[in-house]
Amino acid sequence: MRGLYKVGCIFVKDPTLTSILQVFTKPLSTTSSSVAAEVHKFCLETPIEEATTPPASWYTDERLHDLEMRTVFRRNWVAVGVTNQVARPGQFFTGLLGADPFVVVRDQSDQLRAFHNVCRHRANIVVRQEEGQTDQFTCCYHGWTYRLDGRLSKALRLRRIKNFSARENGLKPVAVRTWGPAVLVRLEGDGRTDFQEKTSPLLHHLDSQGFTQGMTHICRRYYDTRCNWKLLVENAQDHNSHVEYVHKDLAKIVDLPSTKVEATDLYSKMTGLGAKENDESTEGQRYGEGYTVANLFPNLAVNRYGPWLDTNLLLPLAADRTRIVMDYFLEEDFVKNTSEKELADFIETSLKDSDQVQKEDNDICENVQRGLLSSAYDVGRYLPMIEHGPHMFHVFLGTELRKGLELGQ
Ligand SMILES: [Fe+2]
Repeated sequence: MRGLYKVGCIFVKDPTLTSILQVFTKPLSTTSSSVAAEVHKFCLETPIEEATTPPASWYTDERLHDLEMRTVFRRNWVAVGVTNQVARPGQFFTGLLGADPFVVVRDQSDQLRAFHNVCRHRANIVVRQEEGQTDQFTCCYHGWTYRLDGRLSKALRLRRIKNFSARENGLKPVAVRTWGPAVLVRLEGDGRTDFQEKTSPLLHHLDSQGFTQGMTHICRRYYDTRCNWKLLVENAQDHNSHVEYVHKDLAKIVDLPSTKVEATDLYSKMTGLGAKENDESTEGQRYGEGYTVANLFPNLAVNRYGPWLDTNLLLPLAADRTRIVMDYFLEEDFVKNTSEKELADFIETSLKDSDQVQKEDNDICENVQRGLLSSAYDVGRYLPMIEHGPHMFHVFLGTELRKGLELGQ
C-alpha cells in the first residue's frame, strides 16, 4: 500500500507506517467519492458472466454502512431474535437497529408486539434489560408506565397539562412477525406485501425438515467479528467452494459435489448430501444425511443438518464489525429418544465442532475485510456457474440502496 492516506485529519506518506495504520485508513479515491457514486459503481443489469462485484467501499466505508442501516435495515423485515425468547405472555427482549432501540414482547393476550423502546416523556430508553419477563414497562426516569400492548397506563403530575391524551402517548409500535423460529421487525412500512409469498418456497422446504415446529431450543452463542456483515452472507452462498480450503475437517464428512444452490431476490438456499455412507461418528451424525444452508435477505442465516438447526442473526455494528447471534435447536424427537448422557455428549461435541467451523469462517471473512482495504483491490468477479447466490444478493441490495437514495434516506 503506497501513496497518500488519510488517518483522521492527518495525511500519512511514510509507507512503513501503513501496515500499522492499515485498519484505520482508506485510499483517498474512496473517501472523496460520493456515497451515491459508490452505490452506482455496482451495475444492476450486467449479466453475471461480465459483472464485477460491488466495490470495496460497500464493505469498508462507514457512509455506506449508515446508508444500509437507514434503508435496507429499516424497509425490510430484519431478523432480531427467536420465538423462544417471547414464548410466554410477558416475555420480552430488546435490541438496537441502527439508531432505533426497540422492544419485542408477547402481551397478556398472547399477541406478539414490538415497540420503539423510547419513553414518550423525555426519550429515556424504557426497557434496559436485554430480556426478561414483566407485566408492564416502567420508565426508570420519571415512572411513566406502559402496558404490554403499548398503552400509557401511568404518568404522574399531569395537572394543568393541555392537549394531552394518554391514548396518543403510548409506546410507538413497530411491525413484527415471525418466520419459522425467527422474530423479524420492520421499522418502516414500504407497502411490500409480497414477503410471505416470495419466501414461502423456502419456508415450506425448511418446514418439511422441522423448522417452525418440532424443534427444541438448546442454547445461544455470540461471536463478535471484525468484518462487514455482507462477507458473512456471501461466505454462506458460495456453493461450498471454500469448504475444502477453510474447513478441512468438515470437508471430510460433507459430500461437496452434491451441492446445489437456488437463489431468488429475498433468499438463497444451498442443499447437499451430508455424512458419507456408514459414517457413524458424532460428526457424521451431526450432519446426518443432508443439509440446507439458507440466507433470508438481509440478515438471517439458517443451517439445518442432521437433527440440528441453527439460526444466525447477523447484526451489523459498523462497516467492519458484525455481531453473530447463533441459536441452536435440536429435533424434539431426537432429544426424547436419546439418553441423557448420550445427549449431553452429543451436544457438547456438536457445539465444539460448530464453534470450530464458525471460527474458521470468521477468520477468513476478517482476512477478506483486511484485503478490501488494499489499494490494489476495488472490485472482484463472479464465477458464473456457482456464484449466482452472491450475485442475486448484490443485485437486490443494490436495488434497495438505490431506492433509498431516491427517497433521500
Ligand atoms: Fe464456511
